[in-house]
Amino acid sequence: MSKLLTVKNLCISAKSDKETVDIISDVSFSLKKGEMFAIVGESGSGKSITALSIMGLLPKNFYISSGRIEFNGKDLIDISTKERRNIIGSKISMIFQDPLTALNPLLTIGFQVSENLITHGKMKKKDALEESAKLLEKVGITNSRERLSSYPHQLSGGMRQRVMIASAISMSPELLIADEPTTALDVTVQASIMRLIKKLCKDNDSSLMLISHNLSLVKNTCSSVAVMYSGSIQESGLCEDVLTNPLHPYTKMLISCLPKMDSSEKLISISGTPPAPSERPNGCSFNPRCPNATDICRKKTPELKEVKKGHFVKCFNLEGNQ
Ligand SMILES: Nc1ncnc2c1ncn2[C@@H]1O[C@H](COP(=O)(O)OP(=O)(O)OP(=O)(O)O)[C@@H](O)[C@H]1O
Ligand SMILES: [Mg+2]
Repeated sequence: MSKLLTVKNLCISAKSDKETVDIISDVSFSLKKGEMFAIVGESGSGKSITALSIMGLLPKNFYISSGRIEFNGKDLIDISTKERRNIIGSKISMIFQDPLTALNPLLTIGFQVSENLITHGKMKKKDALEESAKLLEKVGITNSRERLSSYPHQLSGGMRQRVMIASAISMSPELLIADEPTTALDVTVQASIMRLIKKLCKDNDSSLMLISHNLSLVKNTCSSVAVMYSGSIQESGLCEDVLTNPLHPYTKMLISCLPKMDSSEKLISISGTPPAPSERPNGCSFNPRCPNATDICRKKTPELKEVKKGHFVKCFNLEGNQ
């Protein structure tokens, strides 16, 4: 499989009146064509910002300070806005974390789903609406023709999520980014939405970048994973290595928080909270919460090292941590 997306040494900073803080530090990963890859990590670890940087949709005052984002060998950072717009929307699309903010409340569902088909697919409006109705059916929305004239507030959360998926897959993108596509939904809908995303990617041979807190979902969907903490990747590799045989103390803690269906063990939560980007400690950013931290962890930042083919870990104390 050839490389579809390569993110290399990506650093993102945010500027305020008072200071400039590093939000994302030295993040690297790549996705092959058709690969299903996940980014996991606690709230605030930088998952959405990483995804938004690929889409060229960073919040105001955020900027890429260094690094590369290559899609099909082309650097997405250095290209013209026009060229980027052509790629985003036709070859890369994203299901956003919050469907309410991602859909425009003032525009009909038909308008929003057909938009890319008209702009990028060069379809006539009538044909694009016809195609949109088919897409809505595909994502499980019945009476799709009538739905074209509905507004987002007239739909339930699950339906809005489906509309967003229909819009995201309208151009059969080569890369689909799904940022917590199911968190706002109840458990039964979650499973059907994930089945749908997986099937759509398989049918189109699209790559998936799934962002999630849910490690079981990641295990069931993706082949590889990166664990983010405090703006950088702490561990990455195949799910069967990282999630079955985790080496970083942070990954271990995340996994120990998973409820175990077959036991009465209580859900453990990770003690402490991640530091705000402006308050990261010296050394390894996980050191204040790490059970294995030693002096070096408080002084120096470890590098992400390959400990086994394709399995990368950013930790000084791997031996003490088995
Ligand atoms: N629009 C914004 N304005 C200011 N700061 C932001 C904005 N969006 C994100 N941040 C900050 O950037 C950092 C990374 O946030 P990000 O949204 O990428 O986290 P996340 O891993 O996606 O978290 P979650 O799991 O809660 O979605 C956090 O410190 C967050 O507070
Ligand atoms: Mg997020």
